[in-house]
Amino acid sequence: MATEDVFVLHNGVKIPSIGFGTWQIPNDEAYDAVTAALKNGYRHIDTAMSYRNEKEVGRAIREFDLPREDIFLTSKLRASIKDYDAVFEAFEKSRTDLDVDYIDLWLIHAPWPWDEKGADYTEGNIQAWKAMEKLYNEGKIRSIGVSNFSESDIQALLDNCNIVPMVNQIPFYIGRDQESLLDFCEKHNIVVEAYSPLATGELLDHPEVKKLAEKYGVTVAQLAIRYCLERNTLPLPKSTHESRIIENKQVDFTISPEDMDKLNAIEDVRK
Ligand code: A2P
Repeated sequence: MATEDVFVLHNGVKIPSIGFGTWQIPNDEAYDAVTAALKNGYRHIDTAMSYRNEKEVGRAIREFDLPREDIFLTSKLRASIKDYDAVFEAFEKSRTDLDVDYIDLWLIHAPWPWDEKGADYTEGNIQAWKAMEKLYNEGKIRSIGVSNFSESDIQALLDNCNIVPMVNQIPFYIGRDQESLLDFCEKHNIVVEAYSPLATGELLDHPEVKKLAEKYGVTVAQLAIRYCLERNTLPLPKSTHESRIIENKQVDFTISPEDMDKLNAIEDVRK
């Protein structure tokens, strides 16, 4: 998987193995950032309703000189929407803001509204998922998934709904490897996407990671992104600087099993 250009979702849809993340990229910078990413070979762009940049992300995709089907576009249902009917309205809003005919992957952004982190919204997630299944079955979305879901959050969907999520997008980086969630997702053929692969930048000065990056003749960012691929997760690096956008995609090397052991043993820098 790690050396291939795509992951294949359980419904057969192919998803480019590095995505360009747009979290925290403001709407007025999103057009230039996404255009730079497309210009430098990214074919997978990740946004969300709550990033408030869908309009400019969509415009960059529409105006770039590539057929729509050559670009994989992910967006996410706002985390606070846990009501069946509201999902359809939200989908139309997202699609209209992006101004595209279809979305390649749509995710439930989180199992709870952000201001109620950890609260039990199991029934709301089931309702939202049933609505997502309907949109998927109607062909409006090519694949559906979840984000920030735990094993029990996913299990509730498996027990009460028909379609196994194709993706779970989670925070994943050197030091935060979420082993048991990864095993669970693998068992159910759910592709794990790694957001914040640089620990939102906090990994960049880590002495041990720096030392290993030097050994491979790569930057810390490249090592951190490669680490995600080696763990069979799909990294979503993001940057507003073109030189870094280019750098983050140049990860065509492998990390030895011994060095992976060292990286796996590193403590979470964000704890
Ligand atoms: P910038 O947009 O100024 O380049 P994460 O993906 O883990 O959330 O990390 C994102 C942060 O890391 C952003 O602050 C981004 O800043 C920075 N960043 C992204 N790529 C690189 C890179 N190759 N080298 C250094 N910093 C980077």
